[in-house]
Order: sequence, then structure tokens, then C-alpha cells
Amino acid sequence: VLIPPPSLSAKYEGSFAYLTVRDRLPLILTKVIDTIHRNKNNFFEKHGEVGVDAEKRAISFLSKLRNELQTDKPVLLLTDSADDTEAWNRYMQRQQDLMEDGQLVSWFKSPWLYVECYMYRRIQEALWLSPPIGDFDAFKEGKTSSFFESQQAIISLCTYLREILASTDNTNKKWLFEHFFRFLQVSLWGNRCDLSISAGQENSQKSNPIDCLADLQQFILVDDSDKVWSVLTSVQGSGGTEKTGIRVDIILDNAGFELVTDLVLADFMVSVGLAKEVRFHGKSIPWYVSDVNKQDFDWTISQTTASNHKHMSSCGVQWKRHVKDGAWSYHNHRFWTLPHEFCDMPAEAADLYSTLQGSDLILFKGDLNYRRLTGDRMWEHTVPFGRALRGFLPAPLCSLRTLKANVQVGLQPGQAEKLTSQDPEWMIRGKYAVIQFCSPLKE
Ligand code: F6P
Ligand code: MG
Repeated sequence: VLIPPPSLSAKYEGSFAYLTVRDRLPLILTKVIDTIHRNKNNFFEKHGEVGVDAEKRAISFLSKLRNELQTDKPVLLLTDSADDTEAWNRYMQRQQDLMEDGQLVSWFKSPWLYVECYMYRRIQEALWLSPPIGDFDAFKEGKTSSFFESQQAIISLCTYLREILASTDNTNKKWLFEHFFRFLQVSLWGNRCDLSISAGQENSQKSNPIDCLADLQQFILVDDSDKVWSVLTSVQGSGGTEKTGIRVDIILDNAGFELVTDLVLADFMVSVGLAKEVRFHGKSIPWYVSDVNKQDFDWTISQTTASNHKHMSSCGVQWKRHVKDGAWSYHNHRFWTLPHEFCDMPAEAADLYSTLQGSDLILFKGDLNYRRLTGDRMWEHTVPFGRALRGFLPAPLCSLRTLKANVQVGLQPGQAEKLTSQDPEWMIRGKYAVIQFCSPLKE
């Protein structure tokens, strides 16, 4: 058995993981505390006295959490009784067993991926332990405003989609292929708009997303979009020899502009018949500031429907119809908010793994999904993507990711060195991207 390289961790002083744990995570916690406090009047007080007490209680849990983080205290077991609590506590034990010299699992000594996920889960614990405010989403405001701030870009994108779908040319293969690539890239670059990297600032799309594509092309480090295309056009449909239509699964990342780009891509695929069914997978608790949950998904579709711009609202109406018809569906699974590398999925969430095996193509959006695909480990940049997946391959899959953390595999020899010499921060600024594919079938 090959031993994988070590995990990224704040224990490497000066690394991006270190800076994240030291600077960005406490800032995110502070914002959560502020948001809860600011909503005292309009949200918590509606529950009367208990609401006010709950607000105080949640804030005190969160301040304690921030203090534990900043002073590198041992990570604590979760004490709530949610359906994932035991899985989290088991994982902590597993991390503990990996520690050397009897050290305890702690914020600056353990894997970055684990402690960062753990922070979001502890935020949720603080709320769950403060009834009746357990369902408060402290990131909701930010997600909503990033949607509104991207309004112009959303209108351009919706207009573009409606106009091309109305064009007479849309059965020609070359036409399909060109437009598919365009929407795939729009969805890729949509991933630049996330709130966690900027701790809540500059996260909207201001320029016309279609016009930018040509200029951005040079920043795509791996482009396997032709392989994605061949999957869509050659597969026989899931689970049989008879063609029943392609099923695509999209593992969503951020709400706001990025989600709109994903919906546009999905609408295009279904409308032109490249896919028969699209399943969206989101988070069941607020996660990494801007990640999509069921409420964000529904809210985004309703907002789009309610727009007074004709193309935007007709997109919304169409999206509602896809949901109603069953062509689109939204799914939660607790595994998406556990800290495991994806190669643990068959053991930890066998039901999800087998559901995904029924897919013809799985699109993983964003940086965090890439980190979990590759285990957030210090791989050599030339290691093949398939090897970094360590056996996780329920179906052909493709990562659409802008780079925001120091893990990147599947590059050509010399490519990383060249990038480093041009821009030492190439992996963390969201400037570069990959469309990286892997398939269980031999190519
Ligand atoms: O450090 C970069 C980061 O903030 C990580 O916390 C996380 O990997 C990522 O950005 C979130 O990005 P995305 O929304 O693309 O998953
Ligand atoms: Mg995200």
C-alpha cells in the first residue's frame, strides 16, 4: 500500500494553512458573532426572552471557540446529539491516533482540512446548543448580498442563455459543443466568487461573464473539457445498455453568482438534451461561509423567477419547471459536511457512494471539493489526478475549480516550477483554474 504524502497543516509555520488558521478563521468567527449580535432585534427577540438568552448563549460558545482556536487548545469532542456527532467524534479519535509523541489534536497541529471543517461544525453546535435559534444561518446575509451585487452579470448570463436557446441553430453538433464549453467555463470561473477566501469581501461578479472567457482561457492550467464532452455524448445512460438519458450530478459549492452559473450550465444541458437529469448536491448546515444549502437553492430560484428582467425571470420560470418535472433535484447528505477525504466515502457514507455510482458524470465545484478529492495533501504537482483520488471514483468525474489552496496535481513536468517563478502565490489567489477529469474507464 502506498503511503500518501502528509496533509497540509498549520503546523508548517508561514504556510497558507498556517495563515488561514491564524488570521482568516478567527476573522470568520468574529463576523459570525457580530452577525448574531446584529440580528438580536429582528431575529432572536421574536422568540421573546428565550430568544434573547439563546443569543447570549450562542455568542458565549462562539467566543470560547475563538479563544480555543487562537490559543491552539486541543480540539474537543462534540456534545450535541445530531446524526453526525458520532461520526465527527470518531474522526477526531482517528486524528488523535495519527498524532506523534502523544500530542493532542489541536488547531495548529492537526490537518488543516480537518480543523477548518471542524470550526464550521462547532459554529453549528453553538447554535444547536442554544435553542430555539438552531436554524439561524449566520452566513445568509452575505450570500444574499453577493447575489444582488452580481445582478448585472446574472442578467447578462440569463439573457445569453435564453437567446441562444431560442436560436434555430441549436441542434448542430458544433454549435452544441461550443456553447457547452462556454457554459462549463462560466461555471468554472463562477467559483472565483466565494465568501470564505475574502472573509466576506469582494465576492461578486461585476463584469459580463461571457465576455471574460477568452481572456481567462490562459489561466486554465488543465483543461479536460473535451473528455467531459465525450462522456456526455458517448455514454449509454446510467445502469444499462439502453439509452435512457444522461444523468449528471453537480456537487455544488457557493451560493450567489456561482450557483447561478451552475444552474445555467444545468439548464443548458437539459434544454439541449445533453442530459436528461441533473442532481444537485448541497450542504445541510451553513458551511465555509458561502456554500449552498437547500434554502439558498430555493431562494435563488425564486429570486430569479421574481426578477423584473424578462430573460432573468424566464430562466427562473424554466428552473422551477425543471424542478417540478423532476429533471432537476436537490439532495443533502451529511457526508458533504464531514471532514473526511473523499476516498473515505465508501466506508463512511456507502449509501452516497452507491448513489453516485448511478451517475454518468459528476461535476465537483470549487476548491474545498478539490481539497477533499485529493485529501488536501502535499502531492507532487505531476502526480496523476487519478492517483491523488486514492480509489475514489464512483463514476466519471470532473473538478471545476479555481485554485485557492496549495494542492494541485496532474500538471505537466516543469509547469508548476514555471508558475512559481512567475507568481509564487499561483495556488492561492483564485486566479488560476482547472477542469480536471478522471474516469474509471480506460481512455
Ligand atoms: O483557503 C481557501 C479557502 O478559503 C478554503 O477555506 C477553502 O478551501 C476555500 O477557500 C473555499 O473555496 P471554495 O468555495 O471554492 O470551496
Ligand atoms: Mg465554498
